[in-house]
Amino acid sequence: MLNSKIAGVGHFVPPNVVTNHDLAQIMDTNDEWIQERTGIKQRHWATSGEHTTSGLAFEASKIAIENAGLQPADIDFIVFATLSPDYYFPGAGVTLQKMLGIKEIGALDVRNQCSGFVYALAVADKFVKTGTYKNVLVVGAEIHSYGLDKTTKGRGVSVIFGDGAGAVVLQPTTDPSKGILSTHLHAEGAHAEQLYVRDPGMGRGTLHYPDLIETDGIYPHMNGNFVFKHAVTRFPEVINEALHAHGYTTQDLDLLVPHQANLRIAQYIQQSMQIPTEKIMVNIQNYGNTTAASIPIALSEALQTGRIKQNDLICLAAFGSGFTWASALIRW
Ligand code: UT7
Repeated sequence: MLNSKIAGVGHFVPPNVVTNHDLAQIMDTNDEWIQERTGIKQRHWATSGEHTTSGLAFEASKIAIENAGLQPADIDFIVFATLSPDYYFPGAGVTLQKMLGIKEIGALDVRNQCSGFVYALAVADKFVKTGTYKNVLVVGAEIHSYGLDKTTKGRGVSVIFGDGAGAVVLQPTTDPSKGILSTHLHAEGAHAEQLYVRDPGMGRGTLHYPDLIETDGIYPHMNGNFVFKHAVTRFPEVINEALHAHGYTTQDLDLLVPHQANLRIAQYIQQSMQIPTEKIMVNIQNYGNTTAASIPIALSEALQTGRIKQNDLICLAAFGSGFTWASALIRW
């Protein structure tokens, strides 16, 4: 019986840093509001004409592949989670494959927004556990900044999101006590329109361009309070689900790596689940919410800063648009 383990990790963010003070120059907002409500101090925004989502993913993937001691040609499957692909179609899996110069392997796109990376990891885990593939590249990458309303009208959303990419390589292991112990995936489509980008979609029966612009359908819309309330319920649920599936409690956890949605959400989880500060990875202050990229970026930074050791029990957990929520329990 095979298990899957994370053999390599990498992340990349575009160099352009946008502080809260920078945003206050272009819309009616301020550093105090943003920090108090979200904890965010700055985010990285890509440079138009220079970066694409696949391009950020390419940089993160190269690091993850090298970190696993592999060459791009060794990758035998790609799972790419993003809500901001380069094209409406084809998906980002194939555009990344092209950049990596890998010929004729399978490439799959996952569209589960903030839960996208955990969903992607769950899919890859099954392929590795069944012996179907041996070196699966799992990527979460986003460029939000090209698609945000950066006027005062869009400030409730645009100050939150950042750009970036993270990647891992999954490989089989014959040690059943190591690697991804289980994954837990949920969705509640009843709330699909509480956090969404409507256009370009076929739901309204038209892609007539002027109409899309006039009705703001191309920008993200979020019922922030509603999303917040569901997030603080679903996060603890899905973290406990992963721990209890293996007879663990939060006391056994060495590091929680949550999707970086809002510092207040992370603090709420921490307090309600009684998780000590050193056992929760939080880096939203520097990156904002990078959606599918946030967990692999946080995981990569946790490794770089020595916060993960061999044999540690790690929980990844996410909640977001859909609504979708998910967790993965990993013995490192
Ligand atoms: O990753 C996917 C999942 N997403 C989440 O988990 C996000 C969950 N939601 C949240 O994190 C919070 O709801 C937000 C951070 C998005 C918003 O915080 P809030 O405390 O819910 O604020 P609000 O939307 O209720 O707005 C409060 C006030 C409003 O003014 P009035 O009506 O009270 O006069 C807004 O117009 O703050 C105003 N406001 C701003 N002011 C300055 C909204 N955005 C801004 C801004 N700067 N950027």
